[in-house]
Formats: sequence, C-alpha cells, structure tokens
Amino acid sequence: MSEENLKVAVRVRPFNQREKDANSKLIVAMSGNQTLITNPKTNEEKKYAFDYSYWSHDGFRTESNGYFSPESSNYADQKKVFADLGEGVLNNAWEGFNASLFAYGQTGSGKSYSVVGYGSNTGIVPMVCEDIFQKADAKKNSQITIEVTFSMLEIYSEVVRDLLNPTADRKTGLIVREDPKIGFYPQGLNKKLVDSYDDITKLMNEGTANRTIAATNMNATSSRAHTIVTVNLVQKYLNESGKEIAKSSMINLVDLAGSERANATGATGDRLKEGAAINLSLTSLGNVISALADNSSGKNVKVPYRDSVLTKLLMNALGGNSKTIMIAAISPAEINYDESLSTLRYADRAKQIKTKAMVNEDPTEKLIKDLKEENAKLKKMLENGKIDPELLKQITVTGKKEGEDEILKKQLDDNERKMKEMELSYEEKLKEAKTNNNTSDLRSQILEKAQRLPHFSNVNMDSSLSGMIKIILEGQGQKIIGQPGKSDIPINGIGILSEHGKVSIDQNRIILERLNDSKILRNGQVLRQPTQLNHLDRLLFGTSQYYLFIDPSKSTSNDVLFDFEMVQDEIAKSSGLIPSENKTNMNQEQIQCQNELVDLIPQIEEANAISSALDKKVCFSALPVSPAARGEYDGKLKAFVSVRNFATGLNWIWTKEKFLDRKVHMNEMYLDYQDDGVINRDKFKSFDPFYESPDTPTQIGTAMIYPKSLPYLIPYKNEVKILDLKSNEAGTINVEIIPCDSNGRPFNQTIEISDPNVQVLDQPISFMFKIGAAKILNQKYEDIYCVFQMYKDPNVYKSDVIRGTSNPDFKFSQNYTLTMNQDRLDFLLNKCLYIQIFGEQKHPKIDQTKSKLTTEEYLEREKLNSQNNLIGRVTNKVDPEAEKLKEDLRVSSIKQARNEYSNNNVRKLLQISGGAPIDPVYLDMMMQASNDQEVNSILEEYSKLKKGNDIKQGDKKSNQFEMTNNTNQFDVFNMMNKNIEMIHKQHMDMVQRNINQTNKNIADMHRNNLMMHNNAFNMSNMRNPNKNMQNDTDNQQMSMDINMVHGSQACIIS
Ligand SMILES: Nc1ncnc2c1ncn2[C@@H]1O[C@H](COP(=O)(O)OP(=O)(O)OP(=O)(O)O)[C@@H](O)[C@H]1O
Ligand SMILES: [Mg+2]
Repeated sequence: MSEENLKVAVRVRPFNQREKDANSKLIVAMSGNQTLITNPKTNEEKKYAFDYSYWSHDGFRTESNGYFSPESSNYADQKKVFADLGEGVLNNAWEGFNASLFAYGQTGSGKSYSVVGYGSNTGIVPMVCEDIFQKADAKKNSQITIEVTFSMLEIYSEVVRDLLNPTADRKTGLIVREDPKIGFYPQGLNKKLVDSYDDITKLMNEGTANRTIAATNMNATSSRAHTIVTVNLVQKYLNESGKEIAKSSMINLVDLAGSERANATGATGDRLKEGAAINLSLTSLGNVISALADNSSGKNVKVPYRDSVLTKLLMNALGGNSKTIMIAAISPAEINYDESLSTLRYADRAKQIKTKAMVNEDPTEKLIKDLKEENAKLKKMLENGKIDPELLKQITVTGKKEGEDEILKKQLDDNERKMKEMELSYEEKLKEAKTNNNTSDLRSQILEKAQRLPHFSNVNMDSSLSGMIKIILEGQGQKIIGQPGKSDIPINGIGILSEHGKVSIDQNRIILERLNDSKILRNGQVLRQPTQLNHLDRLLFGTSQYYLFIDPSKSTSNDVLFDFEMVQDEIAKSSGLIPSENKTNMNQEQIQCQNELVDLIPQIEEANAISSALDKKVCFSALPVSPAARGEYDGKLKAFVSVRNFATGLNWIWTKEKFLDRKVHMNEMYLDYQDDGVINRDKFKSFDPFYESPDTPTQIGTAMIYPKSLPYLIPYKNEVKILDLKSNEAGTINVEIIPCDSNGRPFNQTIEISDPNVQVLDQPISFMFKIGAAKILNQKYEDIYCVFQMYKDPNVYKSDVIRGTSNPDFKFSQNYTLTMNQDRLDFLLNKCLYIQIFGEQKHPKIDQTKSKLTTEEYLEREKLNSQNNLIGRVTNKVDPEAEKLKEDLRVSSIKQARNEYSNNNVRKLLQISGGAPIDPVYLDMMMQASNDQEVNSILEEYSKLKKGNDIKQGDKKSNQFEMTNNTNQFDVFNMMNKNIEMIHKQHMDMVQRNINQTNKNIADMHRNNLMMHNNAFNMSNMRNPNKNMQNDTDNQQMSMDINMVHGSQACIIS
C-alpha cells in the first residue's frame, strides 16, 4: 500500500476578453512552486505553496496550428502540464494503482482547458489516452493482454447520465450503487472496449455531442455539470504458477462544474440564501475535502461522502484507493480576486489529504469466483424471501426508490454481465464493441460535411461544448427553421416557434428571414428583413439558441473565435446595456455586476418564457443590490432576482444562485411538459420550482442608523425609516443607542467628548443597542423579526419573531463593550449600521384583475416580456445622505447646546468672582457640569471659598495662590469665545460639507438612473422587435420620471 498526499497544482490562465475590456489588473504571481495573490483593495499579499504552480498567463506565442508554445521559460504549456501530471497518472496506472485527476475552479477559470483542452491545445485526457495506446502497442508482443475500456458520464443536478448511452434512464438517470470492494459505481454505465486512440477520440466526441444536445436544450446552465471520463486499464498475464492475473487500474479524469463564489461574508452573506442548494455535489465536495484534511491532521471526523452523487463517485479518488492529483484553475484578474482566493484556499486544504493506494492485482479466477458466490447468495435470498440486511445495505441506492427484490435482481444482472465480460476473450469483446458504432459513423459524416458545406455551429456557455452541434445547410431552395418534427431545420429550445425562420439557399448565398415575428438576432441586432448571411455571423434564435454561421469557403486561420461571452456582450453592447467602448470609467465592482447582469438577464427572460408556457403566474426580474441594502458592511454589488407571483400578490428576493438552481428544474419541467403536454415526473408532484411558500420569510427592508453620536457619548434615539431593496419606504423602526459605564449601566451624567479621535481612540466604549417598535407599511407582512450585526462583530443577533402584527415591538436590547480602534471609530463617525427586517407575507392583497390574467397576458401588460423592465427599478424616495446629514446636525447641535450651557455656567462663576482670579479646578468642574443642581452646588462651594480667600486677602497673608494657580478672568473670556467660535465654525463647515455632498449625490444618482433606464430601454428595443411605439413612449416617460432618484442604498450600473 502506498500512502501519499494528494498532489495539487495551480494554473493561471491568460486574461479573457472581458478582463481585457475591463482593463483588469494582474493580481497573481508565481515563483517556483509558490503562488502569490494580492488583494486589490488592501494590497495584502498571500502566499501558497503547492506541488506545482503553472504560469500560463503570458510568455507564449501562437503557432500556425493554434498551439500555444512557450516563449519564456516561465510559461507552462499543455505539454509541460501533461509531462508533470499526466505521465504521473499513467505510470501509476501501469503499476496497477487507481489514479484520479480533477480540476477545480470558478466558471471560465480553465478547468476544461487543462483536462480536455481546446483544438490543438489538447489537454490531459486525450494525451493520457494517446499515451496508453503508444505504450500498449509497445507491449503487444509480450505475454500481456491489455484491455482498455472507456466510459463517460455527467452529473447534472444530482442525476447521473451515461454520455455514451444518453437515452438510458433519460429522466431518472443511472443508479449509484455501492460495492463493498470497489466502492460506489453507477450501475449499468456503458464501458466501451477500445483498441486505439482513434476509438477513444470518437467516443469522447460522441459523449461531448450528447452532452451538448442535453445542455442546449437546458440552455446555459451546462457548466454546472460535472463530467467524469473513466479509462479502465487491465493488464492480464500468467503468473509463475500459470494462473491468469488481472492487474487493473481505474483512471478517473474529472472536469468539475464551475465553483460558485464561496460565501466570503459568512453569516451575513447567508441571509438571503433561504436554504438554496447550489450545486449540492460541489458543496459536498468542499465538506468532504475539509473533513479529510481534518482527519489527516489527526482529528477523527466522519467524512460525508454519501451526501452527494459526486462525492460518492469520487470516494476512492479522495480518501481511498487512488493516487490523486488536483488542478486548481484560477483567473489572473483582480475582478475575480474573491473567487481565486477561495480556490487557492480550497486547494491548500486539499493538499493535506492522504490517500492509500493499492495495486489492484487479482487472479481473474478469483474475481469470477467472488461474483459467482455473491450471485448464489442473491439468488437464494430472492427464492426464499429472506433478505440479508447487511448485503442489502451494501447495495445502496441513489436516484429512485425501489423494492428490495428489484435491487437484488438488478445486482444479480449486473454481476452476471460482469462475469460474462470476464469470461469472453479480448477478441470477442472487441468484435462486440465494433458492431455498435452507428452513432459514431453518423457523426463522422456530419463532421465531414461541415468541412465543406455552410452550416450553423452552436455556441455554448461552456466553451468545451461549443461547435459540437453542426446544422448543415445543404441542397438548394427554401427550408423552414423551427421546432423539431415540424420543420426542415430543427432547433430545440424555449421560444422557438414551429415555424421560426426560413433559409433560402442558392448557389452563392444563404438568406435568413424570420417568420411569425419570431426572435432572431444577427450580430446583436434584430433581424428585421431577409438578410444574406456572412461567414462568422452570430445568430440567436428564440431566447437561448446561439449559433455561428460558418461558410468553410470563406474560413481563414485568422477567423475570430467567438465564444459565448463575446456573443452575449455583443448583444448587450448593441442594445446599450453596456457601453460599447472600454469600461474605463467604471470601477471593477460595477463591471463585475454588469457582467453578472448581462449573463443573468437572458436566463431571466427564459424563466419568464417557461413560466408563460406553463402559465405559472410567476415572473422574474433582476435586481442589483448593494451590500448596504443586504445589511453587509463589506461586500460587492450583486445581482439578485426578484420573484413575483402576480396571482397571489406575493414577492420574494432570490439570490442569483438560488434562481439558477431553480431554473435547472424549470427547464426540466418544461422539457417534461414538452414531451406530451403533461408534466409526468414524480419529482414535480411534490416540488414546483416556481413555488415559494408564503411562510418563507422575505426581506421587508433595511434600516440605516448613523451612530455618529456614540463616540461623543451622546445618546441616540430615533424613528428610522426602513427601505426595501428597491429603496421604497417600507416602514419605520425605533432605535436607541445608549452610552453606558463599564458595568453596562447608562451614564447618569454627561461626559463631554469634544474630539473622539483624541479622547476615545483605543479606549473601550460600552453602550446598549435597543430596537423597539416598528411600523411596517404593507399590512401583508406579519411574523416579523429583525437581524442586527454590529460592525466587525462576528455575532449576528436575531430578535424574537413577533407574530400576528405588522407593527411589531421587538424589545430587543444588546450590550456591547468595544475598543475604539481607528477603523471602528472612523466607521462610527462616518458610516451607518444596518438592521434588516424580515417577515412573512400572511395577507397579500390580491388584485382580482391581475390574478385572472394568464402569465403571458401579465408579462405583456407589465412589459416584462421585454428586457427594459427586467432590471428592477430603484425608486429611492428616502435620501440616505439626508438622513446622515440630519444625524450630523443633531450631534453638532447637542455639542453646541452643551457648550453654550457650560459657557453660561462659567459666566455665572465669573459674576460671583467679581473680577477676582478663579481656581482652574472650579472652571473645569463648571465646564463639565451637566445639570443645574450640580452647577448650583459648585457655585455655592466657590462662593464659600471666595469668602475665605477674601478674608485671607484682607489679612494680606499671601497672594501666592493667585499668582501661580489662578486663571486670569481675561483668559477665561478669551477661552470661552474661542470655544464658541470654534464650535460654531465646525457646525457651519459640516452643514456646508453635507449640503455639497448631498447635492453631488443627487446629481450623480440622477445621471446614473437616467443612463441605466435609457440603456435598459434601448436593450429592449433591440431584443424585442414586437414592441410598439406606444410602449416605447411609455418607457421613455418612465425612465424620465425617475429623475429625483438618489441615495446609495440600491446601486445602479451605468
Ligand atoms: N491556460 C490557458 N491558456 C489559454 N487559454 C485558456 C487557458 N485556460 C483557459 N483558457 C481559455 O479560457 C476559456 C475558459 O476556459 P475553460 O472552458 O477551460 O474554463 P472552465 O473552468 O472549464 O469553465 P466552466 O466552469 O464554465 O466549465 C476557454 O476559452 C479557454 O480556451
Ligand atoms: Mg469546463
């Protein structure tokens, strides 16, 4: 047994087009096996050491065949990566160890590039396969028989699909069973015997094509699928005693789905998640890696392999009998800092994992004997009905529920198939494999035609699936493009009409025309009239079918390689949603959110189209939400999805992840419905992806509290406005911040703080934070609670849920003692705290006229079938800056009143002194006095002392006290005046500053809003050719109406 750590390699790719457009800064560096990443905000650098750090960012040139070869010695090309990683995998495999390689990283980070490769930049999988046969050929003359089998599967939304036999169990997928010896495996997966590299290439293409067909029907969610290619290498030879020995190795090559952004903000970031299961398999993989890393550092935790299909299938690769390599793929750009850091952390954790690999060497005889024995047991159990619970437990089921008998029968069949396979000779097996090659042949024919005939070639979000579907435009005359079964050129997908378009083919040209007002975009523009297609035209049919028009006769080696993002951006640019020139005037955060919206809006459009087809009475729109509106002190502007059931009047906000997750099911539901007009699947009897329970709490809004008075130790008491995510006023809430002594008791006297930066810096401050009664304007909300987190405090507090009222009194109180470091002090003086208010929608007002509409009618009426309304409008009626200004003025007024009070008191002291010098102790006491009682007692005491002094002075015993310690009356007047002047000036400065700032904000917001709404309006014009002029005027009017929009709560992309 060989125990060794999982090997980890990191690879950084070149900038992609979006990163170039955004003028992205490079934040990754590599030195030896170290990877360094710089936080673009703080410039803080983090270092990680891995087995390999591959620099593939720059230092290469493109060969004439498209291969990226090194120009500098730093550059790691595909060959280098294969030499380090692939060869290692192969050597292990020949020795009889299982080997696994998997790639992890965010979407578009370069996983598939390393694992599978693109064009002439072939990746590890094809190179491994090629190498196997080179070595196998060399061994052919020896006494060893080499058998190689190939299988390919996809895990998508927890369903395992056999990519070499996609129709098998199409709806439920393959069942994952557990074998006590080999672990989990997908039952009935096709394992094709191959005897040349060419065979493997054909199968890989077949598998990828099948994946593409499924993914195209499901649209852009394809990169959420995990692909596992398994190559089984069996070497059979006779041992000294003449027994046949099978030395076998399973090579798993795993191309994972893009990792979603890890939840960087912890508890606060979770608040809007509402239990979304974002790619369960990937989350479980994280948990498994974490548990395994803990175990290798001596802890003893249970590894949750069984939580998902992926972790079951990777159980051996991760913690068992396998030598494993992980490639962590990262983007070089600052825009992806969070994601890249999260990938590096993940990889850092993974490198601690130890696997225990064994050589799999067994006499064939024994393998057959074991299977026979198990089958005998199974048969007996089936005959006499006595089930051995132990054996049953081993045959675990995933996928669907079955009876015990059914499980045993399937296992029996499976074992018999395996036995038969083992007993067949290599030649017999090969013959069987070759007889069933029709699909491959058909595909070869299409690919051959695509070399010489004009065709449409698909563009998929997952680059590795682009170009897999070729729709050949052959023959002469007119052909109808439309739904399969009803047209000459079938295109599947949402929004494709039965007669969607027409192509007219003659000798020299191809003309495309749309039919029935269908949606077709050419190079980002609506196709309004019959148009001749040119080589590399980008076409969008319906909501999601993206194709390139390829005319091989015009093709050159300089052809632009259009990918999905480029096509999406082109549409967004020509519609005006994003600027057509470089985005230099936007910050990276805005660019990122804008990219998010550009990707999200077509998905939302499609969800609305499905909702419409199934008449679900639910509609979706995008909503950019600032961290402030989410109640986060740290974070980015993010796209959320607003969900509205117009029949019930209920609204929710979903995270983008939750929406995309649900959308996978919506697409499935639609496909199911499309089959026969009925939704058959059991799954949808108990689960409706469009449904959200009225009991799911939704965010009513956020209250912003400006705690500026706290560092001055001035109590805060205010009725604060609650703003919803669109910045409409949602209600009010009473909040108090009460400065306290170190025992947590409110001060009973005023403590004068004139400059917190001097007097409270690095001092502890205690205070009580109280949340009282709230009034929620919309009476539909009940069972309300609020959530509060103090800046830089890890604790998130949730109030009790106040039931049965929309005017809850939270009676929430929390004591804090915080040391006022500079960061905290700056925050309290300049920023605001957030309280988030959640509630259930118990009594929604049902609008009878709306609820009678069909989804299609509603979308039409609300103009949600066009893009301009798909970005939530921000109608910020409350200006957060004005709120801040009010608080600044309040604190300033209190300070001014206090000064006037203390100056008056000093005046009283001066009067009593009658011009005589005053002991500074009395002056101080007087300036600090917070109430009249205190003032009177000081004056009394001073009078007594003065009388005594007068007597002494009368005796002329000493005037030493007066000369050295007493303050001259003139100085006191001077000091008082200066004090008043200074405070007055400060006050006026601040008022002016705030007024300027507010005006600036108003102007900025005004400009941004107009820009965004005009952009969205333009985009709708481009995308929705059916919109009439009346609508256009309405929309223009609407975007003009939002001219008093200002504030920083919900942010805008401009
Ligand atoms: N090292 C590299 N050199 C050149 N181009 C690269 C490199 N890595 C990735 N790319 C390019 O970046 C794009 C995205 O890469 P890839 O498809 O491998 O990402 P991915 O991580 O598999 O994404 P997804 O999660 O969506 O499947 C592709 O066009 C690919 O060609
Ligand atoms: Mg990929």
